[in-house]
Amino acid sequence: MIKKHFIFLLSIFFLLNQVYIYVDATRDYAPRNIDIELSSKNILVGSYIGGRSHLKPALDIAAILAERGHNVNNKSFAYRVTLLTSGYYTPSLEYPNIKQVTLGPALNYKEILNAKFHKEFEFKEMLPFVENGIIAYRETYQKYKNVAKDYNIDLFICDNLLNEACLDIANTLKKPVVGISSFFKDTLGPQKSGPNSLCNVSLENESFLERFKCIIVDPFKISYMLYPFIKSLNNFREQVNAKPLYMGNSQKLSLHLVDTFFGFELPQTLPPNVQEIGPVLSEEYPSLTSELSDFINAHERVLYVAFGTRFHGTVDNNNKLLQSFVEAINKKVIDGVVWALVVTPEDSYSPTLTLSDGSHIQTSLILDNKHPHIHISKFAPQFAILNHTNTKLFFSHGGAGSSHESLYTGTPMLVLPFGADQMSNAEKLKSAGVALTLNKFTLDVSDIINKIDFLLKDENIKKNSKRMEVLAKINSKRKYRAADTIEYILHSSSLNGGVNEEFLNEWIPAEYRMGFIKGNNYDIYGALFGIIFGLICGILCVTFISIRIILKRIFSSYNQKRKNE
Ligand SMILES: *[C@@H]1O[C@H](CO)[C@@H](O)[C@H](O)[C@H]1NC(C)=O
Ligand SMILES: *[C@@H]1O[C@H](CO)[C@@H](O)[C@H](O)[C@H]1NC(C)=O
Ligand SMILES: *[C@@H]1O[C@H](CO)[C@@H](O)[C@H](O)[C@H]1NC(C)=O
Ligand SMILES: *[C@@H]1O[C@H](CO)[C@@H](O)[C@H](O)[C@H]1NC(C)=O
Repeated sequence: MIKKHFIFLLSIFFLLNQVYIYVDATRDYAPRNIDIELSSKNILVGSYIGGRSHLKPALDIAAILAERGHNVNNKSFAYRVTLLTSGYYTPSLEYPNIKQVTLGPALNYKEILNAKFHKEFEFKEMLPFVENGIIAYRETYQKYKNVAKDYNIDLFICDNLLNEACLDIANTLKKPVVGISSFFKDTLGPQKSGPNSLCNVSLENESFLERFKCIIVDPFKISYMLYPFIKSLNNFREQVNAKPLYMGNSQKLSLHLVDTFFGFELPQTLPPNVQEIGPVLSEEYPSLTSELSDFINAHERVLYVAFGTRFHGTVDNNNKLLQSFVEAINKKVIDGVVWALVVTPEDSYSPTLTLSDGSHIQTSLILDNKHPHIHISKFAPQFAILNHTNTKLFFSHGGAGSSHESLYTGTPMLVLPFGADQMSNAEKLKSAGVALTLNKFTLDVSDIINKIDFLLKDENIKKNSKRMEVLAKINSKRKYRAADTIEYILHSSSLNGGVNEEFLNEWIPAEYRMGFIKGNNYDIYGALFGIIFGLICGILCVTFISIRIILKRIFSSYNQKRKNE
């Protein structure tokens, strides 16, 4: 009875409350002011290896800041962004608010990478790059130092590849540093192996031995291979008085942005200053050329093929790919192919292909765009192609940027990874249920055609692609969150008087300052273990001693008896 009354009173209370809110709605409203006072700050985006697709996430985020700092009436920038990278890639068209200072000529990896195509891509294949990067360290460091001085840099955004000079200069000048990468791996996590190793991305279902190899043996081997390089790097660092900072040590970075998102990336626990902010995508993309638009509109099941610019296949594999496209069209699995082929070296293909039915076809016909259903394009507005409803499948190398665009547009993928992070991206896409993968050593025409057919027809692939599209779209807003956090760091560091002991203590958990043992409470667990062990030993000892005493007594009384007899 009382309960009933109480509920009645409660509902009246809520009713009154609603009336109150309703009445309130007639009042005047004033905007909540969300503006932050801008002060003039200089930001440097630094990348040693450069390259458009590699730089893009960092530049997209920096461009948001540049725009925010752009004082329209004043015509000056509160946030000035400078890019320091190899090559003469001028971002002026895409990023009019960012100016570039060059580190020197663009690096040339093609020679090294192409030579490795026939081999399994292992960590040691990366060593020549590591070596080049380290040899260039002192020079690079000096350039960073000059730019930091000339442009009065307040914050550094450093990418993660061979970019020690960027991290070190920020650390040496006691400036905040934001790291950016497309994957995150702190220590040797229990489930994830690195993108450079040959271990599966998830170790969830691997045997004990495999996990032991992936978590202990492989990292040890890598450290061993890297040791001489790290040694000479540290030598160079000493010569230029640089205070080293390691990208792998996210705890020391002010912020580590990771251009990925759950669904694509495996679920993972991250330290608070490591933030998943991907997929970072542009607000606008170039639209289709009329030629491409006509071609795609005239076909209903288009396969889009693009393998990036850094890796190239063997002649044998290129022939197989070309043959499988022709045969997939002949078998009506697909009705059109758009192939983004920036460069076609003369000797990449055999002059004639022999199809499975024994007929022959001239490759030059295809490469000169004479095939009615294969369109080869030197300029490929990739996003717009994937965005078209007639583009049903993306045949890709599985680079991070391409994967994000494909997921965003809900396009399933057939992935042929060549090396580096492409291997693990391929695995992640496959386990997300939106892709199938191919192996560069065992390419087979009928396997390719079967997989294309499956990807176009399977209902689960369609469902998963839709799901990933929603995830990618929702998460693509997070680049603004990335810019927000960088803005906070800028303000925090100037309010705090630079990067010192107190800097970002509101964000970085105490565990990191407490050291490995205390931070993980290992001393407490150790003591507990000691106590339990002590107790068990104590009990065992007491039992043992008691039994001994009892046995002695029995024995001696028995002896006594016998003597007495
Ligand atoms: C423009 O802005 C800068 C910094 O934000 C300030 O120093 C300068 O005085 C401003 N100029 C004018 C004309 O308002
Ligand atoms: C791990 O990788 C091997 C081959 O590299 C593959 O056969 C196996 O299915 C993978 N395991 C899982 C759980 O994906
Ligand atoms: C491991 O096996 C379980 C149970 O079969 C499965 O649910 C899970 O998806 C597997 N994980 C991976 C990474 O294959
Ligand atoms: C992507 O598709 C949507 C809807 O189909 C369209 O409005 C948009 O302009 C397209 N964007 C590009 C870059 O092609």
